[in-house]
Amino acid sequence: MTVRMWAEGRVGRVEMDNPPVNAIGAATRAGLLKAVAWAEEKRLERVILTGAGRAFAAGADAREFDADPVEPHLPDVLNRIEASPVPWIAVIGGVALGGGCEIALACRARVAGPKAQLGLPEVTLGVIPGAGGTQRLPRLIGLAPALDMIVTGKPVGATRALDLGLVHAVDEDPLGWAEMLNAEALDTLVPVGDLNPPAADAAVLAAARATAEAKMRGQVAPLRAVAAVEAGLALPLAEGMAGERAAFLELRQGAQAKALRHMFFAERAARGRAWRGGTPALLDTVAVVGGGTMGAGIAYGLLNAGLKVVLLETDAAGVDRAEANVGRIIEQSQKRGLIDEGGAAARRAALTVTDDYARAGEATLAIEAAFESLEVKRTVFAALEAALPPEAVLATNTSYLDIDEIAAGVGDPSRVLGLHFFAPAHIMKLLEIVRGKATSDDALATGFALGKRLGKVPVVAGVCDGFIGNRILARYREAADTVFMDGSTPWEVDEAMVEFGYAMGPYEAQDLSGLDIAHANRRRQDATRDPNRRYIPIADRMVELGKLGKKTGAGWYRYPGGNGKVEDPIVADLALEEAHFAGITRTDYGPDEIRHRLVLAMINEACDILHEGIAESAADIDLVTVFGYGFPRWRGGLMHHADTLGPQAVLAGLQALAQEDPVAWRPSPFVEGAVAAGLSFADFAAREG
Ligand code: 3HC
Repeated sequence: MTVRMWAEGRVGRVEMDNPPVNAIGAATRAGLLKAVAWAEEKRLERVILTGAGRAFAAGADAREFDADPVEPHLPDVLNRIEASPVPWIAVIGGVALGGGCEIALACRARVAGPKAQLGLPEVTLGVIPGAGGTQRLPRLIGLAPALDMIVTGKPVGATRALDLGLVHAVDEDPLGWAEMLNAEALDTLVPVGDLNPPAADAAVLAAARATAEAKMRGQVAPLRAVAAVEAGLALPLAEGMAGERAAFLELRQGAQAKALRHMFFAERAARGRAWRGGTPALLDTVAVVGGGTMGAGIAYGLLNAGLKVVLLETDAAGVDRAEANVGRIIEQSQKRGLIDEGGAAARRAALTVTDDYARAGEATLAIEAAFESLEVKRTVFAALEAALPPEAVLATNTSYLDIDEIAAGVGDPSRVLGLHFFAPAHIMKLLEIVRGKATSDDALATGFALGKRLGKVPVVAGVCDGFIGNRILARYREAADTVFMDGSTPWEVDEAMVEFGYAMGPYEAQDLSGLDIAHANRRRQDATRDPNRRYIPIADRMVELGKLGKKTGAGWYRYPGGNGKVEDPIVADLALEEAHFAGITRTDYGPDEIRHRLVLAMINEACDILHEGIAESAADIDLVTVFGYGFPRWRGGLMHHADTLGPQAVLAGLQALAQEDPVAWRPSPFVEGAVAAGLSFADFAAREG
């Protein structure tokens, strides 16, 4: 029973009960409609509407969005609630989001508990509110605040909701408030739909559009939401709602909404998952080796999750530096209001920073985040092996080194795995869990248990150079450098990829991380690089010139005074020079061609990764690219995007480019396989997996 109803005297109680968060599907809509008729038939004085469990209602059930809409439709149900002679009161104890918030708006009164959250996050699923949200919210709280909530999708807490006039009261006992509300007072309340819409304020509408374009660039839903709000300002409620509904239904079927739904469910599926075998270690104390930026971020993330941390350094100076690094994060978190004084003190108390490995003797897990050198890592692992219990799991945060080589130095290599965090490690959601050839199920289960505890999106990867994410990144950069050498500038490449949906292009991003890291990797790969593969020397020239990125004031761009990037003609000249030496006639690539090449390069690499079994599913590649590498979420991640292009088009694109360079653009066998099987990439990966 997704909607329960019962009478307490003349008060009707209606409760939505669709665990875990009362998503509103067909059964809930039908139940609510039935409850309206029931309350009227019984001539009740009021109906108090609640949500069972932790939520009021999390919105329309997004799992229904792929199918045709089924009656009764939510807007019709809500219009019935609003027009009923029996006034409804929404008692909002937890989240009232999307359709959940729209239900509350259709009620005559709204009361929130202190932990309530109200919002219209539909744009984050690529749609607009589809049950009156764009029409009732501006009528209730005014144009500017309504647009702010609808365009950004950000919910508001109880106090803010009260300030905005979104709820009538905030009460520790919201149900009691609804029961006690004076019947006459209730009668005087006007249904939100009967209120006049606010005046159309051109400046406010323009500001909302500017926000949509700046913060949600490339996405269609936020601008459509503004249009629906604007249209409703001059229309009766029913007409405004009809326009809103048509836009909602159209967007629901669109590519962006499908991509965002895919990410929503893929993320949730990943967060909850455990490794399919083994028993995780009990996590209480974790040793972290290395208190640099990465180690300190990892340590802070562990402390946040309530774990004790022993942070290991090599000497007294290292201990001081590590202490300062973690201390800084604690202070910043406190300043931002994320933790209070007590929280900061608890984190400091749970942290031991030392150069004495013996103090990590109780740790059941160690995460090494030391310098990227096999020698250094082997020394660290030997010390961990000596100090920690024999069954403790030993993890390395290496980005590129071979886990199997690290494990080879450990007596029992089955204890060793990779836990690849992304900087800043306490914020970035992605965690690559790297499975060496000897890694045990217990070690992997521990990695997944840790991921869950830290609230990460865990993705398992096999051993190869760069695992999943950095391997795709390397190919992306290689394609960018080739385009640069053969005809474009870094700023043209960056602009093309920003238009694609990245927050920044590959060159600006590399300026932030530093050109020296990729340079060191290239030197490491010199011995094994395919001699037939074209090598673009421009990045090496940059390093020779000391242009290492923002930290040196100049990289692909110049940063006068350490700020604001400026295009650097010297960098553009390097490509002219190298192209001249190599006898290349340069081509003027347009932004579409740049995007085509860079995206296809990534897709082909990802397909090789799937082919080799380094990644387990296409969705895992989507999670890695979105949560670790800034691939636009609204494109659904790299492989989801590849499927919107279609395997056939991907293969044709690769074959055409292979005419230019058969080595770099050799189509992955996985692409050919998907085409031959007539399956999407996702389905082909599932079949092959
Ligand atoms: N539809 C379908 N399933 C939903 C859902 C929804 N709207 N919201 C949550 N769920 C599911 C999740 O997939 C998850 O399922 P699982 O247990 O099988 O993995 C389960 O509910 C719990 O969700 P979370 O793991 O996210 O739980 P949290 O406690 O971390 O977060 C939440 C709860 C804040 C409600 C979060 O789930 C959320 O933000 N949900 C989406 C809210 C939203 O975007 N609503 C708008 C929907 S569109 C709409 O309403 C259209 C209308 O205008 C007509």
